[in-house]
Amino acid sequence: MRSLGLRVARPEGEATRRALLGRSLLRPELEIVAEGDHLILPIRSPDGPGLPAGEVVEREFPLARGAGPSDYRELVPGPAELCESLPRSFDVIGDIVLIRIPPDLDDRAAAIGQALLDFVPTARIVGRDLGVHGPERRRRIDRIAGSGGWRTRHRENGLELEIDVELAYFSPRLAREHERVADAVQPGESVYDLCCGVGPFALTIARDGRARRVTAVDSNPAAVDLLRETARRYSLGDRLVPILAPIESFLPSASPVDRVVLNLPHEGIKYAPSVVPAVASGGRFHYYEITSRAEIEQRADAIMTVLEPGRWRLVDRHVVHPYAPTADLVAFEFERSGA
Ligand SMILES: C[S@@+](CC[C@H](N)C(=O)[O-])C[C@H]1O[C@@H](n2cnc3c(N)ncnc32)[C@H](O)[C@@H]1O
Repeated sequence: MRSLGLRVARPEGEATRRALLGRSLLRPELEIVAEGDHLILPIRSPDGPGLPAGEVVEREFPLARGAGPSDYRELVPGPAELCESLPRSFDVIGDIVLIRIPPDLDDRAAAIGQALLDFVPTARIVGRDLGVHGPERRRRIDRIAGSGGWRTRHRENGLELEIDVELAYFSPRLAREHERVADAVQPGESVYDLCCGVGPFALTIARDGRARRVTAVDSNPAAVDLLRETARRYSLGDRLVPILAPIESFLPSASPVDRVVLNLPHEGIKYAPSVVPAVASGGRFHYYEITSRAEIEQRADAIMTVLEPGRWRLVDRHVVHPYAPTADLVAFEFERSGA
C-alpha cells in the first residue's frame, strides 16, 4: 500500500527504525523496503515530534507478513489517539465499501477511504454513507477513495444480487434475515414480498425452490429493474413475479397468500391494516420495524391491535440489529388465525 516513508542510508536503518518505533511513528504493518544503498521506513506522519533525520518520500510498501492489520483504523495515518476516534464499522457490498463518518472527522474522510481501500481486499471504491432518503430509501454517497460507479454484484446466501447502492436500497446487514425467512417457507406456499427493493427476500425464497410463487412489489423502478436482472440470471421463470407499483395500488386486489413480508421499517405500520386481507387464514406476516428498545416487549400487542384485534398471534420476535443508541431493527412474525 502507498504511504509516506523515511529514506535513510542502510547503515542508519536499524537506529532509525528504533527511533521511529519509540516515537510511534513507524507503521509496523508495512514492510521496510530497500532502494539501492538506502532503506525506506514506512511512517505515519511527515512531521511528528522527533522525526529522525532522513528524506521524507512517498512509496508503495508491501504489508508485513503475518502482521497485517486486524483493524482498518491502524492504516489511517495520524497520532494513536486518532485511531480510537474513528468509526469502527463499515459495510462491504460487492466491491463497494460504505462508511458513516461523523462531521468532526470531515478532514480525515480521504485518509479513512484510502485505509479501507487498502484494508478490504475486494474493495474498488469507498463511499461516505450520508444516509437513506425519501420514500424509495435511496442512499446519498460521497466517493472518498477508489474509482468507478456504485453498481456492483453482492454475494449473500449463495446468490449474486445486482445492486446499485445509490439507486436502490440494499443492506448487507439483513443477510441472515433473508435466509431465515426463506428457510421458514413451506413447500407450495405463495408469498408476497412487499417493498421488496432489489429483492433479497424474494430472490432467496424463490431460489430455494419450495415456494410455488413469490410476488415482489416495489415502487422504485431502479430496484425492480435490478431484481429482474438478478432473477434472469437464475432462470427463476414465473416462480418470481416482480411488480412495479406502490403497495397501495397492489394490495386492494391482491388474493390472500400464505406468507407476506413487509420491510419498510420506518412507516410500515401505516400499511399494516391494508396487508391483513392479503394474509390467508393460518398465514404468516413478517413485519419489520425500528422499535424503541424500551417498548420492544409491548410493541407486538400494539401492532396486532392495528392489524385486527383478536385474530393474530405473535410467533416470533427478535432484534435484527441495533439501529440507534436506544432503538433496534426488530423482526416480528405474526400468524393470522382462522375465522
Ligand atoms: C427499507 S427498503 C427495503 C427493501 C427490501 N425489502 C430489503 O430488505 O432489502 C424499503 C423499500 O420500500 C420501497 N417502498 C417505499 N414505499 C413504498 C410503497 N408505498 N409501495 C411500494 N414500495 C415502496 C422503497 O422503494 C424501498 O425499496
